[in-house]
Amino acid sequence: MLKDKFGRKINYLRISLIDRCNLRCKYCMPPNGVDLYGHDKILTYEELLLIIKAAAELGINSIRLTGGEPLIRRGLIPFIKTVSNIDGIDDIAITTNGVLLEEMADDLKKAGVNRLNISLDTLNKDKFKEITGRDQFEKVFKGINKSIEVGFEPVKINVVMLKNFNEGEILDFVKLTKDKPLHVRFIEMMPLGESKNNWTAGYMPWNDALELVKREFEVRESSGPKGSGPAKYYTIPGFLGTFGFITPVGEHFCHQCNRIRLTSDGFLKTCLFGNNEVNLKKLSKTGDINKIKEAIIKSINEKPEKHQITNHNVSRFMSQIGG
Ligand code: GTP
Ligand code: 5AD
Ligand code: SF4
Repeated sequence: MLKDKFGRKINYLRISLIDRCNLRCKYCMPPNGVDLYGHDKILTYEELLLIIKAAAELGINSIRLTGGEPLIRRGLIPFIKTVSNIDGIDDIAITTNGVLLEEMADDLKKAGVNRLNISLDTLNKDKFKEITGRDQFEKVFKGINKSIEVGFEPVKINVVMLKNFNEGEILDFVKLTKDKPLHVRFIEMMPLGESKNNWTAGYMPWNDALELVKREFEVRESSGPKGSGPAKYYTIPGFLGTFGFITPVGEHFCHQCNRIRLTSDGFLKTCLFGNNEVNLKKLSKTGDINKIKEAIIKSINEKPEKHQITNHNVSRFMSQIGG
């Protein structure tokens, strides 16, 4: 079991599989995309498997694959199958923009993925195009339905709250959870990526959104769906799903942080808002699993107690870290 010096148990590794994406969410990436890493710079599957094996031997049991957009990485399904056979790994989750889910949900489930988080910031086709730069709303919506249909549980929807863009849709998103077993999480905008310097313009505090829902519905606290992430959940009597909030700015959750991150080019980060990084790609090239394990332990010992979200300067884009 991995523990940091503040007593937090670390059992969850988030891996950005690729820094590329088939969308261009305005708050995340510049319209022309970020300066992409070449294929030789991102971790190979072989390197990834060695790192995951090292992490699993240390007590990591939960893996979340992120991006960029993880579903555009070639060879993903066989890779996931191999990960699901690594001793100690009993939870594989994916965070995706959903564009490719309609065709891939079934294979992902069969390969061993058990949980899906899907990003969707609006339920309006035109606004979807405005925020993501691509006309793919229907595809994503079909992908969400398909994920429920093939039996993913839970399916979580990530909605980044953006003032003057989707605040009028909060109730519509909550209403989605009435008849569908969905778990909608409203996320406070963080100063990262494209919105690093202007995030306050769109920032909407989580309790404003909760008040808005409370005006319309009777709201109860809920333990929420399976997952080890930082959201707090609520439910409305009679509704199938839940809704919740991820509140890195309004009420940070660093005291319960259980995670470390691997960037698409193979650097280990122990805090989303830190610039402390350890090059695991270099170590994985040696093939020596013990060196990787030592580096992970050392890094976790230096994991910061909390982030200073308004006073930091993360050099990377969200798509390289994976959120
Ligand atoms: P599960 O609970 O396992 O479903 O995961 P999750 O909600 O943490 O994962 P997801 O990839 O869907 O992330 C949702 C949002 O939470 C994204 O905006 C992430 O950037 C944010 N997030 C996840 N982990 C952290 C964290 O440790 N710190 C901060 N500040 N934000 C996080
Ligand atoms: N603040 C909050 N959430 C963000 N995401 C991307 N950029 C930001 C940001 N600056 C979200 C995506 C996705 C998740 C991985 O992170 O919308 O749902
Ligand atoms: Fe792609 Fe996710 Fe960034 Fe949108 S937020 S551009 S879907 S990586």
